[in-house]
Amino acid sequence: MPTSLMMRAIILFACAIFSLPASTQSLAGRWVLLGNMLENGEQQRSILTLEQDGKALKGDLRSLGFQNGVEGSATEGHFELFGVGWNDKKPFLIGDVSGGEVKGTMWGNKFLGHVASAADDFPKLPYLEPPALEKVPYNGLAKTPPMGWNSWNLFAEKVDDKIVRTMADAMISSGMKDAGYIYINIDDTWEGTRDENGVLHTNHKFPDMKALADYVHSKGLKIGIYSSPGPRTCGGYPASYGHEQQDAKMYAEWGIDYLKYDWCSAGTIYKNDALQGVYQKMGQALQSTGRPIVYSLCEYGMGEVEKWGTEVGGNLWRTTGDIRDEWDSMMDNIHKQDKTSPYAGPGHWNDPDMLEIGNGHMTSDEYRTHMSLWALTAAPLLAGNDIRSMSDETKSILLNREVIAIDQDALGKQASPVKNGSLETWMKPLADGGFAVGVVNLDSKAAQATVNVADLKSAKKLKSARDLWAHKPVKFSNGSYTAEVPAHGTLLLKLSMN
Ligand code: GLA
Repeated sequence: MPTSLMMRAIILFACAIFSLPASTQSLAGRWVLLGNMLENGEQQRSILTLEQDGKALKGDLRSLGFQNGVEGSATEGHFELFGVGWNDKKPFLIGDVSGGEVKGTMWGNKFLGHVASAADDFPKLPYLEPPALEKVPYNGLAKTPPMGWNSWNLFAEKVDDKIVRTMADAMISSGMKDAGYIYINIDDTWEGTRDENGVLHTNHKFPDMKALADYVHSKGLKIGIYSSPGPRTCGGYPASYGHEQQDAKMYAEWGIDYLKYDWCSAGTIYKNDALQGVYQKMGQALQSTGRPIVYSLCEYGMGEVEKWGTEVGGNLWRTTGDIRDEWDSMMDNIHKQDKTSPYAGPGHWNDPDMLEIGNGHMTSDEYRTHMSLWALTAAPLLAGNDIRSMSDETKSILLNREVIAIDQDALGKQASPVKNGSLETWMKPLADGGFAVGVVNLDSKAAQATVNVADLKSAKKLKSARDLWAHKPVKFSNGSYTAEVPAHGTLLLKLSMN
């Protein structure tokens, strides 16, 4: 064949391949996805392993920070994947395959990928046998649910030294400290890399953690930090696997008062039956430092953590997946609290995740319901908004001292709901023999809510009642009180008995 003809044939052949309908390009196989640069200079990296059956996709995603099943579909080369067991409404991983490459977004962050080779695999790390189970003594902290602020919900990887300092200032100027919010908690993405001695350094956003802790302490506040029992945090940063003792000692030297310890990549090393031992290891490491450090377990409720969280020295434990600033997500998290209710009490709390109040995607009535339910269930109150610039409405919710007092009640009981159509009544017995009663309107239109004294099943008589959102006394007649509750709103009463 003359050269020119041969060239034309090659070009035609190439065109034929690349103009194949995208749908004929299978996604089956192993892909390496390269994502954004992390704050410590490393690149986010994932291995996506997929099987394809027609349009259906299923497989597994292993990132630096976690491993999870995925499932979804592909249409004309476009694919959308959900995390197995996450119950998300929207796919977290979206992309297109073309010409042997995949590109798209994972949680909104861009990635570019190609077929993975053995060299792309994550290093295989040894299994470290967790310690034999034994009870870690109570550290005497968190006698009432911890209150403070956490960086994750609003700032995520953008948190830095300056933000933390200005949040500490705002805790004072906004009146939050006076209302009881004490902890300033730095979540994921503060980590740099480990040196040859195993010391984990901070990244460029936190030049001097000790100085930052000193600053926070100088305001009369306390400071919290974040890590994982796995090799990496959820965000893909170096975590405490194999360095538990060393990290705990460093936190104590910095003056850390609170640790959130997030499972994430621990799932790539340990099976779920190791949960208790793995959490005990850090519980013991923290206590061996001699510094009082609140220990917050974060493993999304796996392995019925509410039944053994205290055994490992935990002061609180997440019982759900991550909250989003949406009504459905918030209600879903709080409804999962039901079975955990007997296990809450002074020193050990169920944690339905941090607050979204003030982040802008719920109505004020929904945020009042959020605050009411967290108080009724004795949940930690960790604000997740920008407390430096709160509207008066947001302040009136987060700083409602009458509602905070319900959350902080010394008896430490966690309410559960009784359902009546689209109304839910949550009753929380209080240390003074009284009750907090919340009636939540799940409907998207206003409803009449009634509170009956008889439902309290108390031997005592009603002395007085107050509406904690209206800040005024209310009168019961014939043992009941009825009021209109707006869509997704809550009537929250405090009943005093004698
Ligand atoms: C997990 C946790 C979140 C947050 C992120 C940080 O998703 O549940 O609360 O800490 O990790 O990466």
